[in-house]
Formats: sequence, C-alpha cells, structure tokens
Amino acid sequence: MFLATHDPRYRASLFTSIVAPRPIGWVSTIGGDGRANLAPFSFFNGISSTPPMLMFSNNKPEDRPEKDTVTNVRATGEFCVNLATWALREPMNATSDTVPHGVDEFALAGIEKAPCEFVRCPRVAASPVALECKLLRVVDFPAQGERERDSAVVFGRVVAVHIADEYLDAQGRFDVLKAQPIARLGGFQYLRVESLFEIPRPAKGGG
Ligand SMILES: Cc1cc2nc3c(=O)[nH]c(=O)nc-3n(C[C@H](O)[C@H](O)[C@H](O)COP(=O)(O)O)c2cc1C
Repeated sequence: MFLATHDPRYRASLFTSIVAPRPIGWVSTIGGDGRANLAPFSFFNGISSTPPMLMFSNNKPEDRPEKDTVTNVRATGEFCVNLATWALREPMNATSDTVPHGVDEFALAGIEKAPCEFVRCPRVAASPVALECKLLRVVDFPAQGERERDSAVVFGRVVAVHIADEYLDAQGRFDVLKAQPIARLGGFQYLRVESLFEIPRPAKGGG
C-alpha cells in the first residue's frame, strides 16, 4: 500500500496506530484566574535528558481556539507532567472530557491535588511521578488545508521531579514495573508496561 497523506483515504487513526506506543503526558496547569486544569496528551515525549526537556502537542478543538492546557501554559509559563499509570487509567481518561474553560478536571474526576514547589499549578497526588516544568517555547503550526487542524507544540524544561519513595528501588532507580505506566496506541487502544528486557550497547558505541 502507498498513500499520500492528502489522499481522502488517509485516516488519522492510521498514523496514531503506527507512531505508537506513545507515552502520555498528563498535564496539570492553572489559568490566569488561578483555576486548575488537567488533561492527557499522547503526542508527548522527552526531547533531552541533560538538560531535561519535553514536549507535548495540542490539536485545535472545534469549540475553542485552543485547548485550555495550552491557553494556561501561554498565560502562566508553567505546567506539570504527571505519570499516567494503569492504576490511574480511569481518572486519566475522565480528564480528557471536553468541558468549558475554567472547569477543574481534578474536581470533575475526583483526583486529589498535591502542591508543586517551583510552579504554581497542582500535581496529581496519586501519581508516582510528577515533573515540574517551565515553558521554553510554544511553536504554532497553522493548518495547511480544510481537512487539517491548527496545532501548537509546547516545549518545556523540567525544573523539578517528584517520585514517590515506594517507586524507587534499592539503587535509587525508578521502578517502572511497579509504576506500570500506560501508553497510547491508535483509537481507544492502550498498552501497559509489564515486562522489560535489556540490550547492552556495543562496547565502542558512542553518544
Ligand atoms: C490518552 C489521551 C491522549 C490524548 N492526547 C492528545 C494529544 O496528544 N493532543 C491533543 O490535542 N489532545 C489529546 N487528547 C485529548 C485531550 O486530552 C482533550 O481534548 C482534553 O479535553 C483537553 O483538555 P483541556 O482543554 O482542558 O486542555 C488525548 C486524550 C486522551 C484520553
């Protein structure tokens, strides 16, 4: 099969099931009015570890110029990325509901807040990990045709990391099998991390 992406037979679900699994950035923010917001973004990833930087991407919704998360990040210059795990899959999904600006999805989904240290927004108390972030840049990509939507990619620098003590092993490493992060595939499909394998780098491998 060969398909140009401007061909009407191209479907977004084809792309999202191929570029997968995608980690989920469960992003908490506050608005200029101080109200909290929480939403998942699977067009999310780390882009560097030293310095620690990450990104997530917003597709313009039909009812507003952009998603509340991005509006809040532009207004405050801050956000927090919480780890979405198997145990938190239902509340995470509940926070993706389309609700009017100013609705606090923490309250909507019955999620307890915990304070951050360097940013003003709250984090998800029950999540094993939270990454406090300062905005580096928002890059806007206007739609290039009627079938497309505007996108905005948010780049942030991680300024602090919260890890619940019970998820650190004896060597101080994050116990990913205990946390069981979930990842997004196409459609409504997800994966959960349940097994690991290791492949040492070639002895002379660089970088
Ligand atoms: C697992 C999951 C991943 C999602 N990933 C994205 C994404 O990468 N980009 C996006 O624009 N919306 C994504 N969404 C939809 C948003 O979470 C949803 O539009 C949400 O209502 C946005 O909230 P906000 O307006 O409060 O920011 C995702 C939803 C789910 C359940």
